[in-house]
Amino acid sequence: MTRQGWEVGILGATGMVGQQLVRRLEGHPWFRLAWVAASERSEGRRYGDIPWLLGGSIPAYARDLRIEKPVPGRAPRLLFSALDAEAAGRHELAFAEAGHLVVSNARAHRLFDDVPLIIPEVNADHLDLLPAQRAARGWTGAVVTNPNCSTIFLALVLAACRQFSPRRVLVTTFQAASGAGHPGVASWDLLGNVVPFIEGEEEKIETETKKILGTCGGSGVTPAPFVISAQAARVPVLDGHTEAISVEFERPPAEDELIDALETFSGLPGDVDLPSAPEAPIIHLSERDRPQPRLDVHRADGMAVCVGRVRRCPVLGYKLVALGHNTIRGAAGAAILNAELLAARGWVGEGAQSWS
Ligand SMILES: NC(=O)c1ccc[n+]([C@@H]2O[C@H](COP(=O)([O-])OP(=O)(O)OC[C@H]3O[C@@H](n4cnc5c(N)ncnc54)[C@H](OP(=O)(O)O)[C@@H]3O)[C@@H](O)[C@H]2O)c1
Repeated sequence: MTRQGWEVGILGATGMVGQQLVRRLEGHPWFRLAWVAASERSEGRRYGDIPWLLGGSIPAYARDLRIEKPVPGRAPRLLFSALDAEAAGRHELAFAEAGHLVVSNARAHRLFDDVPLIIPEVNADHLDLLPAQRAARGWTGAVVTNPNCSTIFLALVLAACRQFSPRRVLVTTFQAASGAGHPGVASWDLLGNVVPFIEGEEEKIETETKKILGTCGGSGVTPAPFVISAQAARVPVLDGHTEAISVEFERPPAEDELIDALETFSGLPGDVDLPSAPEAPIIHLSERDRPQPRLDVHRADGMAVCVGRVRRCPVLGYKLVALGHNTIRGAAGAAILNAELLAARGWVGEGAQSWS
């Protein structure tokens, strides 16, 4: 793998996920941020003058970038998209058609037959959809997506248990305020409260997980055969989605076998070494009251899923609790990992502006 670097841009650079991308691209060994875009509300502003939503200050390297319109032309070939879903629906395909490689966080194109929905540790082979995507659409660019944040954490857990053949899955999520972007849910609605509805979230978890763990046939994916029922709630937590998961397996393991499978899961194809990949994508915590968002969400720099409370379930066989950082492993970090996979697989080099 070449250590050459590539210029990258961000669509939707001013939002919660866009800012997390800016922060995580600082000093990246392969990618250098050269271009940012957002809505007409932000167009023309200096990046250093936007309201910064994360802790600390705006990374110095990005402060003098000017926020541009989301139109192809001056943008680098490799683009991260953190656009609002509706804007992503309109803009991402135009960029792909114009030759850009769009690595998207948005839901707009995740379930298209020819669009890879990727978690590198789970289904790197689904990048095999890209030649068919380009051929069918006549593009020189492409669109690759990462899943919904809650889906990523569930899919990593189920991927670690693949050898036991999950058959039925129940998941209840407790999702952080930052998952709704900025300004998100009104404080009056959320503080001291639990809101048992997040528009579209349960459907995303139920469908995306089956696509990710499905079988790629080159021009489409056959969804995994298990069934999932999801319930999603918004809770007054800043960062970190917690999930209570129950699973029935076709070949139920012993409890220590299940824990061993979670602890030893690595998933990444042996031929790639990605700078943002955590040493272990799943961290098993044996304390009886963990994981907790405040204590565990930043483990492995926010890139691991913490799992605990693995125990017998009298209904489905096993239950456990999982926790992931929604804007890092669930969004910005996931997209950067996908772009690294694309680079490692040779998809970034052609036609990209490079730096060294
Ligand atoms: N937050 C999470 O935990 C999370 C996790 C996984 C996936 N996602 C997905 O990631 C994407 C970004 O989420 P977010 O939480 O960062 O949302 P956000 O804070 O609302 O930011 C949305 C971004 O999109 C831009 N935008 C909105 N309308 C636009 C338009 N018409 N044209 C061009 N740009 C437009 C905004 O620019 P302005 O600032 O100029 O309005 C802003 O940069 C969404 O698709 C979301 O579903 C979010």
